[in-house]
Amino acid sequence: MNISDAAYQKCINPDCGAEFDCGQSFFKCPKCGELLDIRYDWEKLPVPAKLSDFSKRWASRDERLDFSGVWRFRELLSFCQDKYKVSIGEGQTILEENSKVGEYAGMRPGRLFLQYEGLNPSGSFKDNGMTAAFSHAKMVGAGSCACASTGNTSASMSLYAHRCGLKSTVFIGSGRIAFGKLSQAMDYGAQTIQIRGDFDDCMRQVQGVCTKLGLYLLNSLNPFRLEGQKTIMYRIVEQMGWSVPDWIAVPGGNLGNSSAFGKAFEELRGLGLIAKVPRIAIINATGADTLTDLVNNKKLAWNGGRVEQKIIDDYYADLTARGFSPHTCASAIEISRPVNLKKCLRTIDICDGIVRAVTDEAICDAKAIVGKYGLGCEPASAASIAGLKHLVAEGVIGSDERVACVLTGHPLKDPNVTVSYHKDGQGQFSNRPIEAPNDLDEILKLIK
Ligand code: F0G
Repeated sequence: MNISDAAYQKCINPDCGAEFDCGQSFFKCPKCGELLDIRYDWEKLPVPAKLSDFSKRWASRDERLDFSGVWRFRELLSFCQDKYKVSIGEGQTILEENSKVGEYAGMRPGRLFLQYEGLNPSGSFKDNGMTAAFSHAKMVGAGSCACASTGNTSASMSLYAHRCGLKSTVFIGSGRIAFGKLSQAMDYGAQTIQIRGDFDDCMRQVQGVCTKLGLYLLNSLNPFRLEGQKTIMYRIVEQMGWSVPDWIAVPGGNLGNSSAFGKAFEELRGLGLIAKVPRIAIINATGADTLTDLVNNKKLAWNGGRVEQKIIDDYYADLTARGFSPHTCASAIEISRPVNLKKCLRTIDICDGIVRAVTDEAICDAKAIVGKYGLGCEPASAASIAGLKHLVAEGVIGSDERVACVLTGHPLKDPNVTVSYHKDGQGQFSNRPIEAPNDLDEILKLIK
């Protein structure tokens, strides 16, 4: 059997529900314009009887697909044949129990786990999604691709693009992207277009460009990307001894991750591979808090897929009328019109999710703590820790519950925020460099 016969694309709008095979590439339902999902006829696929069966793949890590932290779970994302699958060693990430960071957030020892997605080849979680989407791009014979980005998508896309021999174009908002990420896109050979606008402007333009020029779109509107991002959850469950934590905490930007995580758990539960689904906490920055506002204040909900579009339309019309542009030091999540909003609402429904926004100050302090006691992360990633601290203080998350925080990007992605936090002494945990004369005795006096 051709394995890809068991997968198809399906519109998430229950009043449309249009289905398409995986040999086509769209970023929106061609019938109604809603988001698309990848669905599977599970009975046609060789899904293991229990999740721990995947452990066998550790013995055959010389096989490139078994080495990949994404493709060793390939039965759970079987939309293309192995010959199309691209891998550059993504997903070799670790889950670290970190009681010091846990203590900062108000957790009891042994309860906080940090999932370091910054250890991916391009330094962020995006590689999980790109390996999947580029496999699809190869399957459909794409020659040129594009994305809008706050930085990490562009770094990851351009890396996979040159590996696959595709031309790549990235759209970024002028002055809106951290230097580590911009340097990667240029170094990996992407054509980089800086638009005078923010990420939301870039996102709109890239869709126009892809439609007009027939480019393959690599933003998380692409449903194949989200299939790869499901594996972040599989690896957390794996590293917890094939058990599910009580909570997942994740930063929310364009809401691709949160969308993928809910889908992952719903599928695992449907397949009888897990007994319970964890709760999820999705954390915005206060300067880019559309999700928080819509869910907590405007009561926007999944509602079986019949989301009240008018609430969203009115909200966005108001943003436009006010000329609002989001602002946060966590530039990765500086987004006010998240494209996966509806899928994220579905995740909130599946995982009994909760949404909060945290200040830039709280993000920078949490980042300094992850740096001091852990492997470090970029600002957006630390929103998950700041959000956890907030939720423990509120009593929503118990200090005894097991929480896995997804640290989405590497600390070197955004050195400017880190250096100014420490150097300017602006934060609670600033670690300022000390000026010293070029004199041994004077230097010795300074060493503590
Ligand atoms: N953390 C980091 C480090 C990111 O780069 C992003 C998104 C997010 C969190 C938010 O994830 O969109 O799935 O909710 N970065 C995108 C980009 C938008 O263009 O690199 P999300």
